Amino acid sequence: MSEHIEESFWMDSTPATSYPRLAGDTETDVVVVGGGIAGLSAAFELAEAGLQVVLLEADRIAAGVTGYTTAKLSALHTLIYSGIRKTHGADHARWYARSQQQAVDRVAELVSELDIDCDLERVPAFTWTESPERVDLIRAEADAATEAGLAASFVTETGLPFGVAGAVRVEDQAQFHPRKYLLALAEAFLRLGGTIWERTRVTGLSDGEPCTVTTENGHTVTAEQVVIATHYPIFDRALLFARLEPRRELVVAAPVPAHHDPGGVFITPEDDTRSVRTAPYHDGQRLLIVTGEHFTPGAGDVTERWDRLAEWTRDRFGVGDIAYRWAAQDNTSTDQVPFVGRLHPGARNTYVATGFGGWGMSTGVMAGQLLAASITGAAPEWAGLYDPRRLHPLREAVSMLKLGAGVAGHFVGDRLRPSHVDGIDDVDAGTGAIVRVRGKQCAVYRDDAGTVHAVSARCTHLGCIVRFNDAETAWECPCHGSRFDIDGGVLQGPANQPLSREDVS
Ligand SMILES: Cc1cc2nc3c(=O)[nH]c(=O)nc-3n(C[C@H](O)[C@H](O)[C@H](O)COP(=O)(O)OP(=O)(O)OC[C@H]3O[C@@H](n4cnc5c(N)ncnc54)[C@H](O)[C@@H]3O)c2cc1C
Ligand code: FES
Repeated sequence: MSEHIEESFWMDSTPATSYPRLAGDTETDVVVVGGGIAGLSAAFELAEAGLQVVLLEADRIAAGVTGYTTAKLSALHTLIYSGIRKTHGADHARWYARSQQQAVDRVAELVSELDIDCDLERVPAFTWTESPERVDLIRAEADAATEAGLAASFVTETGLPFGVAGAVRVEDQAQFHPRKYLLALAEAFLRLGGTIWERTRVTGLSDGEPCTVTTENGHTVTAEQVVIATHYPIFDRALLFARLEPRRELVVAAPVPAHHDPGGVFITPEDDTRSVRTAPYHDGQRLLIVTGEHFTPGAGDVTERWDRLAEWTRDRFGVGDIAYRWAAQDNTSTDQVPFVGRLHPGARNTYVATGFGGWGMSTGVMAGQLLAASITGAAPEWAGLYDPRRLHPLREAVSMLKLGAGVAGHFVGDRLRPSHVDGIDDVDAGTGAIVRVRGKQCAVYRDDAGTVHAVSARCTHLGCIVRFNDAETAWECPCHGSRFDIDGGVLQGPANQPLSREDVS
């Protein structure tokens, strides 16, 4: 087996941050909860607009999904323009294109203004198909993207080292190192008078005038406005979880000679998605980064999926050993358009940014611009497109019903299922299983030293039963994608409370 690093290249090639914890009560104009690309972009834009801003991060900034992304910075989002034109109309497709392209250009502008060294490269973006039967879809997307205002065309040559049946090509897109960019943006935010508190988990929110945010250790931040940028919203009076579908994806990366660089950012919806880019690497080589094999968290077979992705990468690009592999997940809204704006219909001063559908680099930056503009009273004309308070029952009904039926199936079915093994003794070292102990479903993991780690199997979000991901040694909830470590600590929301420890002795 090759020796690859089980970490993202972005995390591995940048220093860890060490901003302090919040240690007392404080007041500010705006508090931003969550320090991924959406939260950091919003914090920076708000501070640049002259507001006093405090950012609260449960763990470390730019180390959530943003630290494990592929970081293609593009307004071409697979086949979105044909979809939006059909379901929302041509105006909305134009607004989507304009807002996303402006976000790509905003990053380039800030990189230049703030002199950020983040390997930003302007390249074309492609959505390709290898299947002649799908060429019509690709042509339709090229038309829709052009009509929406992007510099798009239909092509049959892409730079990829294999033939395609057709592709949409859009000029003036980009790729970058997301952490190099965001760590520098965080420093620029501090220079504007902003404050960052890390290891500060928010657990309570009251929306009022002013609003109050409460942290896990009991401190409060009082603010005129609150932005929830926690990826999956941790406060959800709008029940957005009924309209957000989590999707986990795998990534592999391997060095390629620089002259094999395909020179763009690429995606195909085929084969459970394949997404391709490169980044500067050592010794004149480029690092080829390939993402794909999406699945619902908790679905299992992760090792097989990783093997399939690595095999595809070797086969198509002729690479040798895989240098890195990692995984992450994003959420897609039921009408495919992200939710950015007021948190719910009754919200006075609370905002949210979520549902980026695998395109949170441009959308996170767009969300920062949109929220800052909305809070300072200058919302752009496309604000309504992303408003979380929209509900289009006809457009969303089928996806919402499917999503709801899946969740209900897990909620009821997983409770009735017998234990995966008869008892604690049957849990092998290095594995995890759901075991009924005194009538209660427990999530039991035995480490390589033989020590048993037992926690409640009921997800602290809405009570679905978690499942073990053996390739990543984590408990995952199939309902809305919460993830927990083997001792129950929250790795990813919407859950905001750990799984309780269980005494199974
Ligand atoms: C494998 C993969 C590849 C991708 N590739 C691309 C790509 O090429 N291009 C693209 O545009 N998009 C891509 N995406 C999507 C993109 O990475 C995400 O949409 C984006 O990073 C999400 O950013 P975020 O700020 O919303 O979330 P995060 O980066 O997860 O930030 C949320 C932060 O909130 C914090 N938080 C959570 N709860 C609390 C709390 N209670 N209190 C305080 N803080 C809290 C978390 O610790 C975290 O740091 C990809 C996604 C995946 C999964
Ligand atoms: S994530 Fe919602 S019930 Fe687990």
